[in-house]
Amino acid sequence: MDAIAEIEAAPSEAALHEVKVKYLGKKGLITQQLKELSLLPPDERRTAGARINALKQQLEAAIEARKAALERTALERQLATEGLDVTLPGYQFPVGGLHLLTQVINRVTEVFKSMGYEVVMGPELETDDYNFKLLNFPDEHPARDTQDTFFMTDGRLLRTHTSPMQVRYMQTHRPPFKVVVPGKVFRNEAVDATHEAMFHQLEALVVGERVTMADLKGAIEEMAKALFGTAARTRLLPTYFPFVEPGAEFSVWWQNPKSGKEGWLELGGCGMVHPNVFKAVGYEGVTGFAFGFGLERLALIPYGIPDIRYFYNGDLRVLRQFRGAL
Ligand code: PHE
Repeated sequence: MDAIAEIEAAPSEAALHEVKVKYLGKKGLITQQLKELSLLPPDERRTAGARINALKQQLEAAIEARKAALERTALERQLATEGLDVTLPGYQFPVGGLHLLTQVINRVTEVFKSMGYEVVMGPELETDDYNFKLLNFPDEHPARDTQDTFFMTDGRLLRTHTSPMQVRYMQTHRPPFKVVVPGKVFRNEAVDATHEAMFHQLEALVVGERVTMADLKGAIEEMAKALFGTAARTRLLPTYFPFVEPGAEFSVWWQNPKSGKEGWLELGGCGMVHPNVFKAVGYEGVTGFAFGFGLERLALIPYGIPDIRYFYNGDLRVLRQFRGAL
């Protein structure tokens, strides 16, 4: 019908208002027709009235719709001149994630927390006393050569292992206790696919009355089962560390679920705390065990990462693959 066409063609809000007045104003055509209803015979009045009212509503709705459309166009025009296109899709902010190593560290510390261990941290810059002497490395002892590191001019050094925290913790706490210490350690290494000058270790120390080697083996076994599944097996082989006696290296039997390849994965060192270490911190009448291992290995091998340097050179193509790995 013409009125609808007129409304839809109204080029501006002012023009639309004129059309509205023409039909719905005091003297508008529709208003006029409603007034003339009274001239009709009563039986025609009802149907005519209904028809005119329906028409009126139709026009009102069309006017509203046109008005909204005109407002929208006006807004769009304004936005266009302001150079802002609200219909553009939003930016995709890159979502970060935890580094694989951070995930592994979190996972391992959670395992120990669930076994009742406290998690503590120690300084990365250490004195010779904490890193070596109080751990029963005598001056000039050849065992020091296995842990060459970087020295400050004042004689302090970047710690070569997390074991110095054994001494620091014992100096400030009374047994019994169970603690783990995750953190960065440093070695003067020729860097290659399996060696870095900085890597991470986790140290565990348990001291109390009658703590035995069986407890040590049990703790390592529990950790291995929590990390590698209940079928995991562990092995201790005798070896030497100045601060434990007896000392051992420990390995986990590990099977790669993808390749099926299996073998002993050597993780770290362990043993019963050496009496000289207890003497150095003034402990008597207690025994204890300690173990420490490299956290990189724990991530490298299960995830098939061929080179330790991938952890630190920040290549997103590598890092992305392990977002939310654990
Ligand atoms: N600190 C030793 C290392 O870095 C590992 C170790 C920790 C050995 C605790 C025995 C007991 O090689």
